[in-house]
Amino acid sequence: QQVALPKDPSLPPVVFHYIPWFGSAAYYGMDPYKFMFECRDRYGDVFTFILLGRRMTVALGPKGNNLSLGGKSTHVSAEDAYTHLTTPVFGKGVVYDCPNDMLMQQKKFIKHGLTTEALQSYAELMVKEARAFFANHLKATKESGPVKVNALETMADMVVLSASRTLQGKEVRDSMSTRFAKLLEDLDKGFTPLNFMFPNLPLPSYRRRDRAQKEMSDFYLSIMEKRRSGEHDHEHDMIAALQGSVYRNGVALTDRDIAHMMIAILMAGQHTSSATSSWFLLHLAHNTELADKLYAEQVKFFGNPDGSFRDMTYEETKTLPLMDACIRETLRLHAPIHSIYRAVKQDIPVPPSLSAPSESQTYVIPKGHFIVAAPGVSQMDPKIWDNATEWKPSRWLEDGGVAKAANEQYQAGEKVDYGFGVVSKGTESPYQPFGAGRHRCVGEQFAYLQLTVLVAEVIRNYKLKLVADEFPKTNYQTMIVLPLDPYITLERR
Ligand code: HEM
Repeated sequence: QQVALPKDPSLPPVVFHYIPWFGSAAYYGMDPYKFMFECRDRYGDVFTFILLGRRMTVALGPKGNNLSLGGKSTHVSAEDAYTHLTTPVFGKGVVYDCPNDMLMQQKKFIKHGLTTEALQSYAELMVKEARAFFANHLKATKESGPVKVNALETMADMVVLSASRTLQGKEVRDSMSTRFAKLLEDLDKGFTPLNFMFPNLPLPSYRRRDRAQKEMSDFYLSIMEKRRSGEHDHEHDMIAALQGSVYRNGVALTDRDIAHMMIAILMAGQHTSSATSSWFLLHLAHNTELADKLYAEQVKFFGNPDGSFRDMTYEETKTLPLMDACIRETLRLHAPIHSIYRAVKQDIPVPPSLSAPSESQTYVIPKGHFIVAAPGVSQMDPKIWDNATEWKPSRWLEDGGVAKAANEQYQAGEKVDYGFGVVSKGTESPYQPFGAGRHRCVGEQFAYLQLTVLVAEVIRNYKLKLVADEFPKTNYQTMIVLPLDPYITLERR
C-alpha cells in the first residue's frame, strides 16, 4: 500500500485503493479490525477510506472515540448516518426517523421500563424461561452423552424467549412459536450491511422486510387495543411503561410510536446479547478450567445441599465477581458493534493531540464525510492491555490490575484511570462496548442481567467443550460481530 495524500493537506490521509468508487470495501468488510490496525500503523489515528463512494474518516483511540461519540449534535448526526437502514425496520417517527431531541426523550421513556423494580421482576421471569428452555429443548442430554449444539443459535433462542417474556410482554412471548418468529426473521434479513449500503433494492428480501415491519407493528397495536379493552391483563413490561409517555412539548407517544419503539428495542437487544452470550460460551468451552471456576462460583452463591441450585435475584446477579469479569472481558474482545458511524454536518477540527501531521498543521474532518468510531480497536490495543488478544477475565479481578481498578472506579461513578491517563465515564475511554455520549446504550443493565441468568443456567447444568480444535473465527459480514461455526458439546453435569 502507498499513502494517497488528499489534495488539501488539511484533510486526513486517504487509504490507498485501486478502484475509485469501490475503495477499501473488500478489506474493511472482510476484517475491519485488521484493516484499521494496519491503517493506524501506516497513517496514524485519523485516516479516510473509501467505502462504495462514501468517505469514511476513522478516528481511533480514546481521543478518537471522544471526537465522534462526544461530538456536538450540530457537528455529527447518527440519524443522517442510520435512518435509511433503521426506519424501514423499526418504522416511522421514532429513533432515527425523528429529531435527535425526540430520540433523547424516547430513551428516557425506555429507561422508565428498566427501573430496578422492573429488572427485579424480569430476573424472576428470565430464570423461569431459561429453566424451561433447557427442560424442553435439551432433554436429550439427560439420556445420552454429550450433545452437539450451535452455541449462537441456542443462545439466540434463549435471548429472544427471555427478552420477549420480560421486556416485550406476555403476548409477544405467547406468539413466539408462531408467526412472530417468522416476522423477526424477515426483519433481520432486512438489517444487513447490504441494506446499509443500498437502502432500496428491488429484491424479495426488501419486500419481505417491509411486509414484516407492517405486520409486526400492527401486532403491537392489537396488543395495546386488547389491553385497553380489558381483554388482556396489564403487564409490567415495556409496552406498559411506554404507554402514557409524553414529550416535553405535551405531545404523547401514539400507539404506533410505541409499536415502532418496541421493534427497535427488540432488534437492539437480540443480536448484541446473542452474540455476546455465545462468544462467552465458546470461551468457556475452550477454557474448561475457567468454566469450572464459574461453576464453583454458582455453587458458592446459589448451591443447595442436595446439589440443586436456587434462583438468583436481580441484586444477586450483580454480586458475582467472576461472572462479571467474564462478561466484561467477552465484550472487550467481541464488541458486537465494530464500527459506529456518524454523518459529519459541520467541519470537525481534529485536536493536535490526535495524529497531527506536524506542529503547525492539524486535520479537519469535513462536512459530508462519515466519522467512524471503533471502540473495539482501543479495547484490543496492545498499547493499552496486556496480552490484548487473550480472553483473560482475571484482568478485571487481579489486585493491582488496571482493569480492576478502573472497573471499581467506574462502578462508583468516578473518573476512571486506566493507567495511561485519566479518562472519564464519558466519551473518552478505551472501553466502550455500549458506546458513549448521547447515543449510549440504555440496555446495559438489562443485557448484564440477561447474560448472567442465561449463562449461569448453562454452566449449572452442563460441561462445555469446543467441537473444533481451533477457537471459532469471526464473521464480520453481518451487522453484529458473530462467531463462525460456533459448535460446542453440552454434557450433563
Ligand atoms: C445503543 C451496544 C443491548 C438498546 C447502543 C450502542 C451500542 C450498544 C454500542 C451505541 C450505538 C451508537 O452510538 O450509534 C449494546 C450491546 C448490548 C446491547 C453490546 C448487549 C450486549 C441492548 C439492549 C437494549 C438496547 C438489551 C434494549 C433494552 C439500545 C438503545 C440504544 C443503544 C435504545 C440507543 C441508540 C441511540 O441513541 O442512537 N447499544 N447494546 N441495547 N442500545 Fe444497546
